[in-house]
Amino acid sequence: MTAYLNGQFLPLEEARISPLDRGFLFADGAYEVIPVYRRRPFLLDSHLARLQRTLDGIALPNPHTAGEWNELLQRVIADSAFADQALYLQVTRGADGKRDHAFPSAVSPTVFICSTALVAPSAAQREFGVAARRAVDNRWLRCDLKTVALLANVLLRQQASDAGCAEAILLRDGLLTEGSSSNVFVVKDGVLATPLRDHRILAGITRDLVLELAAQQRMPCEVRDISDAELRSADELWLTSSTREVLPITSLDGQPVGTGRPGPVARQMYDWYRASREQATSSADV
Ligand code: PDD
Repeated sequence: MTAYLNGQFLPLEEARISPLDRGFLFADGAYEVIPVYRRRPFLLDSHLARLQRTLDGIALPNPHTAGEWNELLQRVIADSAFADQALYLQVTRGADGKRDHAFPSAVSPTVFICSTALVAPSAAQREFGVAARRAVDNRWLRCDLKTVALLANVLLRQQASDAGCAEAILLRDGLLTEGSSSNVFVVKDGVLATPLRDHRILAGITRDLVLELAAQQRMPCEVRDISDAELRSADELWLTSSTREVLPITSLDGQPVGTGRPGPVARQMYDWYRASREQATSSADV
């Protein structure tokens, strides 16, 4: 598998970074995961715009223009053995000669890109939905930044996994925030709702697309605070992310969500989502 590291394309197993890299020492870096279908990245411009917002948020100058990112990413996509990929990019503040919390004065960022096969939800997950459990959102208050400081997300997800669940649904001060690596939508009486886009959640690219599709199709949709009680009495719950697409949650803390099967609103949205993705990734000039 070809990776890109600091100016070089090379086999992934040959890629090396310094143990003094601030990504390794301090999780001082940003990342993106971009889904690729038939070797065409989906919503790449939105991912690069979010990367820029994260880099601005952590005061790390973007090492590349959008055009340069495009070229680097296209080369990694082209060299992959897979047509459908999960493209990963990471930028850290780089390696200084010593460990110091304060930013070093002169250091070049570390830029890493690799791509793996896209693992989309299975046919069984699509048909039956997935289980989730609630957990207290104990992350920092800049969840809008897509940084590699993911230990809280990792621990929350592992606790969910240990309980046989596909995701942890997080609540802060009694309000729904998001999943450990996804956004969450609630459906009640045919009305879709999702939490506000602020420092408490990541502005998911898939979330934005779902909101856009709902608006286009005139599906009633609200962006607002969602209480724990609403979460527990929803007719439908969904996860959204670049790799999980729009995926129904059919059990929450061991209790069925609605009928316990994926609901009609989720099926409808998934169809719109897939149509939009097919259209965007089949044209020649994406
Ligand atoms: N995660 N919220 C969190 C905390 C996430 O980590 C993600 C995505 C999302 C959904 O964002 P998007 O729709 O842009 O993928 C929401 C990626 C897939 C990951 O870390 O692997």
